[in-house]
Amino acid sequence: MRGNSRLRRLASFGMMAVLALTLAACEQSHPNTTFDPHSDYGRAIDFLWDRLLLLGTIVFVLVEFGLIYIMIRYRKREGDERPLQTHGNVVVEIIWTLIPAFILLFIAVPTVRTVFKTQAKPVAGALEIEVIGHQWWWEFRYPEYGIVTANEIYLPTGRTVNFKLTSNDVIHSFWIPQLGGKRDAVTNRTNYIWLTPDSTLQPSAWNGFCTEYCGTSHANMRFRVFTVKPDQFASWVAGERRPAAFGSVTSPAATVSPASYTFPRNQPEFEYAKPHTPVPAGMTFTRGLTGNAHRGQQIFSSTACIGCHAIVGNPAAMGNIGPNLTHFGSRSTIGAGSFPNTPAYLALWIKNARLMKPGVIMPSLGLNEYDPVLKARVTKAQGGLDDQQIADIVAYLWALK
Ligand code: CUA
Repeated sequence: MRGNSRLRRLASFGMMAVLALTLAACEQSHPNTTFDPHSDYGRAIDFLWDRLLLLGTIVFVLVEFGLIYIMIRYRKREGDERPLQTHGNVVVEIIWTLIPAFILLFIAVPTVRTVFKTQAKPVAGALEIEVIGHQWWWEFRYPEYGIVTANEIYLPTGRTVNFKLTSNDVIHSFWIPQLGGKRDAVTNRTNYIWLTPDSTLQPSAWNGFCTEYCGTSHANMRFRVFTVKPDQFASWVAGERRPAAFGSVTSPAATVSPASYTFPRNQPEFEYAKPHTPVPAGMTFTRGLTGNAHRGQQIFSSTACIGCHAIVGNPAAMGNIGPNLTHFGSRSTIGAGSFPNTPAYLALWIKNARLMKPGVIMPSLGLNEYDPVLKARVTKAQGGLDDQQIADIVAYLWALK
């Protein structure tokens, strides 16, 4: 008996610890929490959570209180007779059938209402974005504007967005914790999820994840969402609709300054949206090389790159296996959110992507690099690129704004 109550005390301590941790997770400093929603959908789910937690807590406290009270009040005392044994009491049984039914009603009504509300068709004029899961990156299409991009979504605040989810291979799951989700992306069925980022939001960056285990680099299948003001969105759209600006690259170091809006990099308040994946040990790149964008364009257009990547404006590049790179220079990450998009990371990525992201289809391209899939070093005959050639490709890709 004594051991039993100690166990119970321990259990209630454990419960308190879990509750304290849950409350701590509600703080603003946790960017990937669902407890700080910034969309109608997110708030609907958050409301349900609050309601269930409240009702569950009330039930828990009442039941535990009754249990402990009865255990103490009616415990066996010295010299007690064996109490009268009873079986069956219609009134009591009806009461304890009705009480849970009543509780269930309080849970079921808002739950079903939320299900119907969030599963209904989105409002007219919603922005449609096609989301296609790939092993291991995200393709995003804006059919209304004819835009194809990868791993980064721009959303105007205050406008409902309807995500149309499918998969190219296995099951993935689309989730932006602070905006809403999650919903599976599967091959033989189209799923939808819609939400409206709050119109009061200042331009912000959000982390997105794949939350269905989908193979080797499941954990490296991330994306970024930028909620921006409607006029910034319109400017971004105008830029994305144009072909890549590679034709106007004039000098080796040239970076075309984007005429259209792109979400600014390196803002300290969005530090959480910056990747911190470590570079595999032993990867190096020759220091001080200056890439030539024109040469890079030629190398890109005459090697394996074009078999997988499309660049609108470069007629040679029409591959559709890998991410569309049309406005690559304005993206903030590479490798589906695995590394920051900087020339240094990009150079290493091109040199040996297979070392940087396990399972990636992109081949190791650096001359003499060890390809972990082929278990051999890349040769000149296989099209291995030296560091200068890679620096040229980096200059070209970075010029694509
Ligand atoms: Cu895609 Cu996990």
